Amino acid sequence: MTIRKWKYTDIAALAVFEEAQEFPDRWNFNMLAESFLNDGFFGVLAEENGVLSGMGAILFHPEGADLLDILVAKDRRRQGVADALMQTLLRECGRRELKKLFLEVRAGNAPAIALYKKYGFEKVGSRRAYYADGEDADVMCLKG
Ligand SMILES: CC(C)(COP(=O)(O)OP(=O)(O)OC[C@H]1O[C@@H](n2cnc3c(N)ncnc32)[C@H](O)[C@@H]1OP(=O)(O)O)[C@@H](O)C(=O)NCCC(=O)NCCS
Repeated sequence: MTIRKWKYTDIAALAVFEEAQEFPDRWNFNMLAESFLNDGFFGVLAEENGVLSGMGAILFHPEGADLLDILVAKDRRRQGVADALMQTLLRECGRRELKKLFLEVRAGNAPAIALYKKYGFEKVGSRRAYYADGEDADVMCLKG
């Protein structure tokens, strides 16, 4: 498995990848492209023999940073892909001496919450009906 930074030319493939995973909060091409063009954007992808198996992204900004997304191919889950992505993302946070990394996650998304807890994120709040279907979000934070 190779983990590397996104290039602009990856965005079409990333949009197809997002669509194929059928995750409710998936990004489309425009969302991916707009985020990528932001100065503080840091996106990584996992690939095996040129086939995408996962992606993750952080937006760094003057007040801190937000983990925007982490998504693994349906048929590649529970095989350490998210671990590899998360370790690369957190290495970048360390390099930038980041103090706080925030994220929002569906309150019922047990696999993602377990992943975040494994890396030391703690729940610091919640947002009622944050998602379009009315589900609440947990707000989690990792302190550097
Ligand atoms: C959450 C997600 C990214 C995990 O990816 P993954 O590659 O399967 O995760 P890994 O195999 O690297 O596992 C890393 C850790 O995540 C946790 N985890 C992953 N899947 C889990 C599951 N189904 N149940 C419980 N814990 C889980 C575990 O803590 C695991 O560590 P362990 O193997 O030492 O127990 C994946 O399920 C996914 O893409 N879900 C849909 C998208 C999503 O929910 N993204 C988060 C949006 S906020």
